Amino acid sequence: MMTSVATQPDHATPPKGHGPILSVRDLHKTYRLGRVKVPVLHGVALNVRRNESVAILGASGSGKSTLLHLAGGLDRPDRPKKGDPRAQIIFDGRDIARSGRSELDRFRARDVGFVFQFYHLLPELTVLQNVTVGAMIRRGLTYSAHSGEARAHARELLDAFGLGHRLKHRPNELSGGERQRVAIARALINRPRLLLADEPTGNLDAETGAQILDVITDLREKFGLTMLMVTHDVSVAQRADRVVRLGDGLIQEG
Ligand SMILES: Nc1ncnc2c1ncn2[C@@H]1O[C@H](COP(=O)(O)OP(=O)(O)OP(=O)(O)O)[C@@H](O)[C@H]1O
Ligand SMILES: [Mg+2]
Repeated sequence: MMTSVATQPDHATPPKGHGPILSVRDLHKTYRLGRVKVPVLHGVALNVRRNESVAILGASGSGKSTLLHLAGGLDRPDRPKKGDPRAQIIFDGRDIARSGRSELDRFRARDVGFVFQFYHLLPELTVLQNVTVGAMIRRGLTYSAHSGEARAHARELLDAFGLGHRLKHRPNELSGGERQRVAIARALINRPRLLLADEPTGNLDAETGAQILDVITDLREKFGLTMLMVTHDVSVAQRADRVVRLGDGLIQEG
């Protein structure tokens, strides 16, 4: 299904030492709904090496999606209570927990690709447009202003995923596995270095899920992507280099 995609991260920086590319420390998160507090993460720590894939297992409600959102800068950790250390989310030497709005926007747009369980494709857009829309957000330009480059890259990705003949279709004309491949192409349009996948196979049958994991594995090898993947499924988790568990608001290694 895959063919080669001759692209590399266009903003690759030389490795800064041999430390992890992602290092999370003292991560606390409590949701507040009016007076009700929902404590979720209680000081999570996790290191992910460059090009490593790590699977996060954990019960429903244990905070897996929360952790992924924080790691990708979609949400902010709690401020520390008095005397507690401040949360750190260090990606390639920068602490995104301390980043201002524009630096965080840049991190999300350039460095991170997200894949969700339910694809989150835009129903009104074609397959090709669903992939290029991420490039539009990255550049902050209008769609037409740079459509040539983004479209060429999107076509290349979709071709590689066996969807080159479905460019003009809408998401509702595709199967679940095809939609997830479109979503992965969208996640990769900006050539991110970190792929955050939240139950990427959670809505697919076992065989289609295995195909999606093959696609992801292939991509990781080609592009040197680092991946953090959430799953309920032990057999899916075993495809990763390392498996960690989230429980009681903490990461339990091994
Ligand atoms: N925006 C929010 N506001 C309030 N509570 C939230 C919010 N998001 C998540 N929660 C709560 O935080 C807890 C952790 O949610 P999270 O979605 O991270 O769990 P999860 O491990 O991903 O679960 P699942 O496996 O079901 O996807 C849950 O109790 C959930 O209800
Ligand atoms: Mg979740």
